[in-house]
Amino acid sequence: MANDTLTITDNRTNATYTIPIKDGAIRAMDLRQIKTDPEDFGLLSYDPAFMNTASCRSSITFIDGDRGILRYRGYPIEQLAENCRFLEVAYLILNGELPTARQLEEFEAQIKAELAVPENIKRIIEGFHHDAHPMAVLASTLAALSTFYPDAKKVRDPANRRKQIIRLIAKVPTLAAYFYRYSRGLPYVDPDPRLSYTGNFMKMLWKGLEPDYQVNPVVERALDILFILHADHEQNCSANAMRSVGSSEADPYVCAAAATAALFGPLHGGANEQVLRMLDEIGSVENIPSYIEDVKNRKRLLMGFGHRIYKNYDPRARIIKQTADKVFEVTGRNPKLDIALELERIALSDEYFISRKLYPNVDFYSGIIYQALGFQPEIFTVLFAIPRMTGWCAQWDEMMGDPEQKIARPRQVYIGYGHRDFVPMDQRG
Ligand code: SDX
Repeated sequence: MANDTLTITDNRTNATYTIPIKDGAIRAMDLRQIKTDPEDFGLLSYDPAFMNTASCRSSITFIDGDRGILRYRGYPIEQLAENCRFLEVAYLILNGELPTARQLEEFEAQIKAELAVPENIKRIIEGFHHDAHPMAVLASTLAALSTFYPDAKKVRDPANRRKQIIRLIAKVPTLAAYFYRYSRGLPYVDPDPRLSYTGNFMKMLWKGLEPDYQVNPVVERALDILFILHADHEQNCSANAMRSVGSSEADPYVCAAAATAALFGPLHGGANEQVLRMLDEIGSVENIPSYIEDVKNRKRLLMGFGHRIYKNYDPRARIIKQTADKVFEVTGRNPKLDIALELERIALSDEYFISRKLYPNVDFYSGIIYQALGFQPEIFTVLFAIPRMTGWCAQWDEMMGDPEQKIARPRQVYIGYGHRDFVPMDQRG
């Protein structure tokens, strides 16, 4: 554009200011020059929940919420889900380019070499009650890994960051599988580097007494696709947590624990578990209209619907829905799908949802597949965290290498008391 600037007139002083526009944004710090007098701190931008605030410049993931577009490093999610294995996409997200065959082989070898976790982690897992929520255990054991890898504190060393990233991506399925086995009173199954990333995860979860666990290729492929779809999603709540905690130069393990904590919330990654509980509560297609009424009367949320960015169908939900049919050929159809499909049909034809641009998001159908694969709802969000570890690590690495970034410390608009003097106890109340 000819003149990428904004001219602002402060009507309090009639002063005008010209502020540069770059990539569709102004720098909030350029507002600080707008003052009513030299003592004035200057203008702040106030944006609760960061509805319209860019915290960084990133080249990892692009989302167009109005058109339902999601791309990792420029590649459409539909093409990646159809043509890639998860680790191939993890390499792309971390390195910016699709790997050559040799690069992928080396990356997979690095991951396989780091699948094991320190034995003491089993002791930590065994300190939890068997019915502890797996997301709380995952956050705890990720933070515990920090104590085994003190070199991870060298966060300004790109090679060291890469070493820790490989460890995090490699070990998160092992942490998840170990607690899954412990919570069911089953012996641990150690990682098997002969298998694929998802195949190894399946074996650590489900191996019984058979001499050699056979990976079901349909289930392995479905998990791969689900992992690809969940790998990154730009500046979502948990990625923001990863970046914010990382900005203090904390090590990546405790940053990942913080990101896991953020993902645990029912408004974020915890929604996939809540969707299944919602479908269980609805129970049958006949009960959908009354549930929808409760939602419209603001007594409930329609879990798995709505999104801060997508004001159109979440492209991931569409792919998951397509994947469900292939999974059900192996596992048998999950009857909850009928309730979900009817719920979607009714919601998408109801003005309440249409006017608010509420569509199914990634969490609406994922739980139905997970349940058909034999997972219990409380582990669904762990199945989100495992692939998202790649996205969190890529966002963290990008931030640590960004010369513009420093410790995150937002400002506030203070609305509390002005100065007041201490009141002795006998004069209060
Ligand atoms: C994920 O950010 C990401 O990228 C996240 C994620 C990722 O990959 O990292 O995509 C993963 O977290 C997906 C979202 C999973 N969460 C859920 O499914 C929980 C249910 N959804 C809602 O909580 C909500 O839609 C959010 C949290 C997802 C988005 O909330 P926003 O952007 O703050 O929107 P809002 O709450 O301001 O809603 C706008 C309107 C409101 O109505 P009004 O007050 O304007 O009348 O829509 C309503 C809301 O009440 N609304 C819903 C609703 N979601 C929004 N009403 C009923 N059910 C819902 N689910």
